[in-house]
Amino acid sequence: MPDSKPALVAPHGGTLVNRVVDADAASKGLAAARSMPRIELSDRSICDVICIATGAYSPLEGFMGSADYRSVVDDMRLRSGLIWSMPIVLPVRGADVKAGSTAALVDETGDVIATIAIEEVFEGDPAREAEKVYRTSDKEHPGVAAVLEAGPRYAAGKITLLKMPAPQFPAETMTPAQTRAKFQELGWRTIVAFQTRNPVHRAHEYLQKVALEIVDGLLLHPLVGKTKGDDVPADVRMRCYHVLLEKYYPLGRTVLSVFPAAMRYAGPREAVLHATARKNYGCSHFIVGRDHAGVGSYYGTFDAQQIFEGIESELGVTILRFEHSFWCNVCEGMATTKTCPHDKANHVALSGTKVRDMLRAGERPPQEFSRPEVADVLISAMSTTPS
Ligand code: ADX
Repeated sequence: MPDSKPALVAPHGGTLVNRVVDADAASKGLAAARSMPRIELSDRSICDVICIATGAYSPLEGFMGSADYRSVVDDMRLRSGLIWSMPIVLPVRGADVKAGSTAALVDETGDVIATIAIEEVFEGDPAREAEKVYRTSDKEHPGVAAVLEAGPRYAAGKITLLKMPAPQFPAETMTPAQTRAKFQELGWRTIVAFQTRNPVHRAHEYLQKVALEIVDGLLLHPLVGKTKGDDVPADVRMRCYHVLLEKYYPLGRTVLSVFPAAMRYAGPREAVLHATARKNYGCSHFIVGRDHAGVGSYYGTFDAQQIFEGIESELGVTILRFEHSFWCNVCEGMATTKTCPHDKANHVALSGTKVRDMLRAGERPPQEFSRPEVADVLISAMSTTPS
């Protein structure tokens, strides 16, 4: 019988990676791991292990070796030629590990999460990585700071995940294989992914809904791995997403699931990683708006869109580029400079600092900026956390 399920976009490199073993192999692996040398994972590396093992970072089956690392830093490609935008490496500062051995990857409490068959231990070039990947050597940049702090010694090799860390949001945790199965069950073929590390405000909502006009479904895919301290915590954001979806979204056309990656704040290069990973989750389209994955003023407003020029069709994901979007009082609706002819004075524009001040004072930002239900979640979260 012909398969009636719609074909989804193929994973990056053609095959969805799965480095998670079954229960039997996991218990044998955990027993063997007791006598292995140990590498303690940072929060960031734990996120990488999960993304690699579940296939979010297909075709990577482990942490990169020196040849892939250099090629990715300099040319944004794996040594095989496949587009890959960010080094995914395992820093092993003082650990006593060498090529040819297998090491246990443990969390800060010493619990084994995975093992790595070490093929190589090498010195990376964090200064070059900063310049080429983050486009700055400024140590104040949170992504650059993390790279420098981790040190230049990296271990490379395939990993095997033995014990998945307990997910913070079990109900919204889906591997790429699971989102793909879900999309097929829903009969979707074209899916737009929305990456976010913020509560969804009206501008975000607008982008998603404009995109929904042209595709079968939306994957609202908030990043919930390690973020910098002043970003809104993931649990608060999840509450925001739920109240928003319940009231304002077509639920039959929306899937909310979490993206377990760490945030790198690498702007354009990270936008490519975000799109690549979402392709692995089965998404054909990816939204890139203003200053995607940016921080401070390190990147031009549309640098993260420009980086896709010339690689989009090769990457195999359709990038939906959006101008800065806002509410216009004259249009009486959300708009961008592409659709609104009115002067800026008519646009509802609020800085992040202004919004935070309002929320901290228990005041809702205008509903043209943020849905009141979302504002209320943020106000109540801020009233219980120190500023
Ligand atoms: S990000 O670090 O995950 O990119 P954020 O959650 O703020 O940060 O943004 C999610 C997506 O929405 C990104 O693609 C970003 O470019 C886009 N975006 C955010 N605000 C706006 C806006 N006002 N206009 C257009 N695009 C926006």
